[in-house]
Amino acid sequence: MTTSPSTTSTTPDADAIDESLGARYGDAAPDTIESVNDVIALQLRHRSVRQFTSEDVSDDAVTAIVAAAQSASTSSNMQSWSVIEIRDPERKAAASELAGDQEFIRQAPVFLVFIADWARNRAIAKHHDQPDAGIDYLESTLVSFVDAGVAAQNAAIAAESLGLGITYVGSVRNNPIALSELLELPAGAFPVAGMAIGHPHPDDAARVKPRLPQDIVRHRETYTTPADSAIDAYDDALSAYYASQGSARPWSPTVLARVRDEASLRGRHVMREALEQRGLPSK
Ligand SMILES: Cc1cc2nc3c(=O)[nH]c(=O)nc-3n(C[C@H](O)[C@H](O)[C@H](O)COP(=O)(O)O)c2cc1C
Repeated sequence: MTTSPSTTSTTPDADAIDESLGARYGDAAPDTIESVNDVIALQLRHRSVRQFTSEDVSDDAVTAIVAAAQSASTSSNMQSWSVIEIRDPERKAAASELAGDQEFIRQAPVFLVFIADWARNRAIAKHHDQPDAGIDYLESTLVSFVDAGVAAQNAAIAAESLGLGITYVGSVRNNPIALSELLELPAGAFPVAGMAIGHPHPDDAARVKPRLPQDIVRHRETYTTPADSAIDAYDDALSAYYASQGSARPWSPTVLARVRDEASLRGRHVMREALEQRGLPSK
């Protein structure tokens, strides 16, 4: 079947868009955005889902999700990423234990692990009897991490468009060596991010979470450092959101706790060594 290029641009419900924008930006919400279509409306509604029903996610749905992921742009078309689909409850439980022991990973019917994958392209070099020393550099590691991240976000949007819920899992990098063994990754392949996917449980209380005002993130032509007061205002907005979730806490302390020192990286301060051990020296 031949398909011609087309753009999806239907007009979604204006009240629903206003609601999402209000939740996302609070008082800093733009008055109107005429360019919001169904795709963007879906993106505006995103929330991480950490409680799933027992309903399965079909193989067909995962095929569509991976096709969407593979349709993302990829650096120099090198496609230097892969994804491991975990459904086996025992392997999922073992992966969860290695990834911060997060219950929602066990609960989700599907756990995808996006992989920075230079093993495949190394094999191409071997097949053609050509050198591949360029893979040993940090730039190549970054390329595959960016590729995996870009693909993962396409997967997230695809899943959400099917009515599924997702939560990313960065903790797959807590124990990257053991997780790589569990998933039987070859040398040159490294876990970047996991994604729990399932049907959102009605009890899941998470809602659209406020983000920084757009004018803090969006710099016109050149960079402008935000005023401390603007960050303070966002602290208040996020605190109010978390209060609705049962535990008010502002944003800045979360950031401070994650950047304070080596210990705040929760074991991930040895990433360079782990990459090297996994065949990605990242020089
Ligand atoms: C790369 C990445 C890693 C993440 N890792 C985790 C994780 O290990 N556990 C978790 O509960 N949430 C994780 N999250 C979800 C974030 O906490 C969440 O996206 C953020 O708090 C914003 O909330 P929202 O997605 O509901 O808007 C991760 C998100 C990203 C993008």
